[in-house]
Amino acid sequence: MASPFPPSTVSGSGASSVTDFLSRDHRLCDELLAAVEDGVGKGDWERAVRRFQDFRKALEHHLDMEEKVLFPAFEAATGMDHGPTFVMRGEHEQMRELMAELAEAAEAKDADGFLGRSETLNVLVQQHNMKEEQMLYPMADDALGVESAEVLDGMRRLPQ
Ligand SMILES: [Fe+2]
Repeated sequence: MASPFPPSTVSGSGASSVTDFLSRDHRLCDELLAAVEDGVGKGDWERAVRRFQDFRKALEHHLDMEEKVLFPAFEAATGMDHGPTFVMRGEHEQMRELMAELAEAAEAKDADGFLGRSETLNVLVQQHNMKEEQMLYPMADDALGVESAEVLDGMRRLPQ
């Protein structure tokens, strides 16, 4: 039966494991943030703001794929609902707060304020991504087994 959903445009659409799919999406978000910082560093606010909107949308979508699809499936498969996903959800909230502060700094064209917070966000994201890529995603792939195809499908179908 043909899928009623259009092909995914997110990175990692050809991936066959949770680890591969979401790790590739991490790299995409990293590249988008680097492009924003480049625009701010050059004082090109118009471009920087457009790039920031792209980055924010991509990171929000990534967090949504985890919170709405992967984490509930992981929690159901492992019975661990106050384990790693609880910690990851808390860090996602910190990322959202920093993105809101970045939006304010961009609005005010405050380059120092923006770059200071983007560095904080980048450190948080890198530490968070390492925990996910080295621990949570491989655990999810193991725990989900054949179900991981369904979870990948669910993440691909989540609206951007
Ligand atoms: Fe995450």
